[in-house]
Amino acid sequence: MATMEGKDAVAQYKPKLEDKTGRAHIIEIMHINKSFGENHVLKDITFYIRNNEFVTLLGPSGCGKSTTLRILAGFETADSGEVEFEGSDLLSVPAHKRHINTVFQRYALFPHLNVFDNVAFGLKLKKRPKDEIKTRVSEALKTVGLSGYETRWVDQLSGGQMQRVAIARAIINQPRVLLLDEPLGALDLKMRKEMQIELKEMQRELGITFVYVTHDQEEALTMSDTIIVMKDGVIQQIGTPIDIYNEPKNAYVADFIGESNIIPGTMKKNEEVTILGKTFTCVDPLFPEFKEGEDNPVDVVIRPEDIYVKEEGPDYVNGTVTSIVFKGVHYEILVEDDTGNEWMIHDVDPVKEGQRIGMTVDPDDIHIMRKSEFSPDAPGAANSSDDEVSSDSESEK
Ligand SMILES: Nc1ncnc2c1ncn2[C@@H]1O[C@H](COP(=O)(O)OP(=O)(O)OP(=O)(O)O)[C@@H](O)[C@H]1O
Ligand SMILES: [Mg+2]
Repeated sequence: MATMEGKDAVAQYKPKLEDKTGRAHIIEIMHINKSFGENHVLKDITFYIRNNEFVTLLGPSGCGKSTTLRILAGFETADSGEVEFEGSDLLSVPAHKRHINTVFQRYALFPHLNVFDNVAFGLKLKKRPKDEIKTRVSEALKTVGLSGYETRWVDQLSGGQMQRVAIARAIINQPRVLLLDEPLGALDLKMRKEMQIELKEMQRELGITFVYVTHDQEEALTMSDTIIVMKDGVIQQIGTPIDIYNEPKNAYVADFIGESNIIPGTMKKNEEVTILGKTFTCVDPLFPEFKEGEDNPVDVVIRPEDIYVKEEGPDYVNGTVTSIVFKGVHYEILVEDDTGNEWMIHDVDPVKEGQRIGMTVDPDDIHIMRKSEFSPDAPGAANSSDDEVSSDSESEK
């Protein structure tokens, strides 16, 4: 069977890109650059995809996610760099000969064909025997939960069902890698959530490597084994959902991946950070380039759910509650501290607007990051959370 050959090939092939887990890589993307005219949309993109992994490219519109997928699929060329598929050059292989298939955001089904013929299309082109086509179509439809829909016309299907047909069509050739470009983008929230879980199950069941594209951070956190965060054609961070959430590498990732308070601070010594004149114990050492005893500037990330509300006091960061909104499970509380920074807190206990409170946090829940172009106080920083975090706070000393 083709799959067995594939697995053996993976086992024999020695990865070029270093990976501490020692797991097999199916695809290695090395130093890819791509420009459209003056627009440099992929800047030295390098990452690997492990066999059977669910990898997600996550980033805002225009950051180069689809362009990366299109290069993998063979619909777009790279200006420089290499891509290897199990150790062999991929870029010289024509799109239709790659063991890679794509599911797009808009389903691209044939409206004049029924479900069966849509799914069978590729096999019919390959002139496979009728019996085989029938068996494989019904297996693929079963996988996507559409058994019995063979004779339905495409325009009699819901958006979610159309997307399932598109997935069935993409998996029927048993590709080694499935590329999915915002496949749930056109679905409503409830259907999206259902399909997220189903897709993840399908991926495990089929043993196919999924490369998934989304700009929805929650979707990425829910589904992925590995997330690659991109911005403006540059990879900002690669890691597991837990890594990316708990240990964001810079203020951009911290802000993009969830609600967070990002505050300028300084570190003089290991495991101690000063924020707004108050010193807190944390778990991070000084970065190697830092000088002990000096005020080394850092960005501090504190998630809204990690802040404790106290009565105001000398050991806390004190401030005034400016708004409180019930969000179902918790209250979302906004607080302006005494130097004008805005903080977001998630707490199950309510406070009152105008109330004075103190805020504190456990050492474990303080995450220290290096300063970057995305720091809230970086020169010309476009604060991505917009007017929520008042830019006035930056002029305070
Ligand atoms: N064929 C093309 N010709 C010219 N510019 C292009 C082409 N394809 C993409 N671009 C540009 O390249 C950049 C990256 O586009 P890409 O489609 O990869 O972004 P994306 O991350 O997928 O965004 P989205 O979330 O909006 O789909 C954008 O600035 C886009 O306008
Ligand atoms: Mg896109």
